[in-house]
Amino acid sequence: MTNVSDRIAKLAARLPKDFVVGTATSSWQIEGNLAGRGSSIWEDFAKAGHIKDGSTGEPACDHVNRVDEDLELLKWLGFDSYRFSFSWPRIMRTGEGALNPEGIDFYDRLIDGLLERGIKPAATVYHWDLPSTFGDKGGWTWEPIADKFADYAAVLATKFADRVDSWATLNEPWVSSFLGYATDIHAPGANDQAKGFEAAYRLLLGHGRGIEALRANGAKNTGLVLNLTTMIAEDEGTKDAAWLMDGLQNRLFLDPVAGRGIPADVVEATRHITDWSFVKESELAEIATPVDWLGINYYTPNRIESPSETDKGFIVGQNTDVYPGMPPVNFVPREPRTNMGWEIDASSMTTTLQQTSERLPGVPLYVTENGGAFKDDQLTDGFVNDQDRMDYYLNHINAALDARDGGVDLRGYYAWSMFDNLEWAEGWKMTFGIVHVNQQTMERTPKASARMFKQLLEQR
Ligand code: FCB
Repeated sequence: MTNVSDRIAKLAARLPKDFVVGTATSSWQIEGNLAGRGSSIWEDFAKAGHIKDGSTGEPACDHVNRVDEDLELLKWLGFDSYRFSFSWPRIMRTGEGALNPEGIDFYDRLIDGLLERGIKPAATVYHWDLPSTFGDKGGWTWEPIADKFADYAAVLATKFADRVDSWATLNEPWVSSFLGYATDIHAPGANDQAKGFEAAYRLLLGHGRGIEALRANGAKNTGLVLNLTTMIAEDEGTKDAAWLMDGLQNRLFLDPVAGRGIPADVVEATRHITDWSFVKESELAEIATPVDWLGINYYTPNRIESPSETDKGFIVGQNTDVYPGMPPVNFVPREPRTNMGWEIDASSMTTTLQQTSERLPGVPLYVTENGGAFKDDQLTDGFVNDQDRMDYYLNHINAALDARDGGVDLRGYYAWSMFDNLEWAEGWKMTFGIVHVNQQTMERTPKASARMFKQLLEQR
């Protein structure tokens, strides 16, 4: 195998000058400073004991108090852009009404700090930390929530549209609905399959209305971030299941945004779970408001095979209920896998990008998240030599550029994540960062993979 420096040089040589290279985080996973904002459903979920290592969201990476240091680190690494999310209850403590001046100040500092350092701010309006006040009313299954979200998006645009480079309404609505409502893997943990579908619909509606509200208040370059992937049937018997899984995770979100409505096969396959009576034609038109770009978060393919006589199905590496309506199948991720158990397969990312560009023609794409958790939460001699992460990134960035060379209008790539951080219900156990964060002292130490990005960006 050629050494890493050679691989970096080769990648730098094929990296287009105008291709955006960035890194991503989200508010709940890094900010801390919970006293400075209202409560979110993730603190409620944490209090109810759902986070594996007992993490609470405080101090997370203590980013609110260390924002200047973190900005300096971003600049030193040389990224073109930084993708972050606004915390809804930090903007308005109860999600509506009076603004929280402390919260507005914090994002002013962050955005201005990025611009001063020549880094493009890429903002996500909602990355899962819903205000508890709305969570208590039913969250994304509460009918008024789409309008509350649009009002919040309008506030953000009024305050920050003059300085933010790109806007995403939502991060991964599939995860919000099927991990948060159909099951109890994520907050709020409703564990009700029918609610999963209603939440997905209200998230989509929030997205459509959110785009309108952002634009009406001066925001440019507005889009949506979906977690899309390739569904691989390992045998004839799972072909239909793979198509339905593609429907439940990819097409359920892409088709309405592309103006094709809710996929008929998904409606058919889930009639025993929901009657879909919440869908309204006029609202589908709002959901289909054209986007300026689409972000894809890609980590792993979904590989399935038929269960044998003795299997119950769904046994390897996947939770059973996140695809309501699916027949029993076995998830069979191949080696190598990350610490999350996710199969590493860069070529499936190329496939996902190609497929998405066909399904949403004319819309520029970005990889808005990609990365891996590896067993590297400890420093060795003051350093983290994360060879497996470097390998992951080199292969995946090349796979992204393969899609681009093959005609996909791919404009950029964001590494997940800038920091080791709170990996939701997994807590601190799963580390995705290119920068190590000491959980006691909060000291930041760039890993080998961070230096790899620095080298890549210098050589480009
Ligand atoms: C994505 C989330 C992100 C992070 C990565 C590992 O689903 O958007 O916050 O947790 O997975």
